Amino acid sequence: AIPLKELFKDHFPIGAAITPQHADLGTNHGEALVKHFSSVTAENVMKPDALQREKGVFTWDGADRIVQFAKSNNMKVRGHTLTWHSQSPDWMFYDQNGALLSKEVALDQLEEHITTVVSRYKGDVYAWDVVNEAMFDWDPNGEIIYREDSPWYKIFGPSYIDSAFVFARRADPDAKLFYNDYNSIFSWKRNKIYNLVKRLKDNNIPIDGVGLQGHWFVGTSEEEIRTTLDLFRGLGVEIQITELDIPVYMSNDEPGSTVYTETFSTRQKQAYKMLFQIFLDYKDIITGVTFWGIGDDATWLDKPGRKAFPFLLDENLQPKPAYFEVQKLL
Ligand code: XIL
Repeated sequence: AIPLKELFKDHFPIGAAITPQHADLGTNHGEALVKHFSSVTAENVMKPDALQREKGVFTWDGADRIVQFAKSNNMKVRGHTLTWHSQSPDWMFYDQNGALLSKEVALDQLEEHITTVVSRYKGDVYAWDVVNEAMFDWDPNGEIIYREDSPWYKIFGPSYIDSAFVFARRADPDAKLFYNDYNSIFSWKRNKIYNLVKRLKDNNIPIDGVGLQGHWFVGTSEEEIRTTLDLFRGLGVEIQITELDIPVYMSNDEPGSTVYTETFSTRQKQAYKMLFQIFLDYKDIITGVTFWGIGDDATWLDKPGRKAFPFLLDENLQPKPAYFEVQKLL
């Protein structure tokens, strides 16, 4: 097999989400990373609760290890994530009595967090997910725009989004700044994201791109993805596929298995062929594709009794049949 990163080297970097333990050439994961991937993202250790669990006390070791590994092996780093309602410490939102902080205090803390993190990795992290998952997920009528249960939203309304981008740009003017979300290919959500990005651009808020998380299914509609890419093209932003994984089951309701069957393999061959053909067709706006893991041995999608097998590399980090389907596209 031709290494993945070689296949796409003229088009876009191919990334993987990793743990600091993977960032080690002496391991199978480290080896697979340098062979197949040209970019890495911290699966968890650059999130707010990992970097600043306690106010003012930053923990850098895991994140530093990933960045060092990437630098010494000629890989890019995609940073994830600066502003999110999840995996963020309570002190960012609440006082000691559990009451929401004032806008002033919360804004100061957000600025401090973003400035400290982005400055530390200035020049090393080439792209940041500045704001993650701010839009409400399910609302076909489009009346509820933002995720209103987010403590960020409760304190600020949507204006924290604008502020986060401004702080990030100030800390590293050269980093590409992304808004990142899931389910973005469905009409009810893509329109909200479109309107958000349009509003930011109209107001001169520095945003460079939209991240489509890519937690899709083998049955995901090709048309929805293409329609979304066509729509976002009109915004004049880059698109990155930021968290690609395609579980073998058709939907979350499908009962699971722990064995990788022929049926699964066939489904995945079709799905990955379809997806990478789209990515190639839109390579003028797609500037990165990152898998949310390395190989089928470890993924956040696994549950007891149901393995997801969502990647192009198997549990031993070897290319799967779907991999060769992708290879044929080039
Ligand atoms: C997930 C990680 O993969 C898990 O290890 C962790 O327990 C929860 O978060 N959207 C995102 C990612 O933006 O940060 C999430 O990552 C997956 C969904």
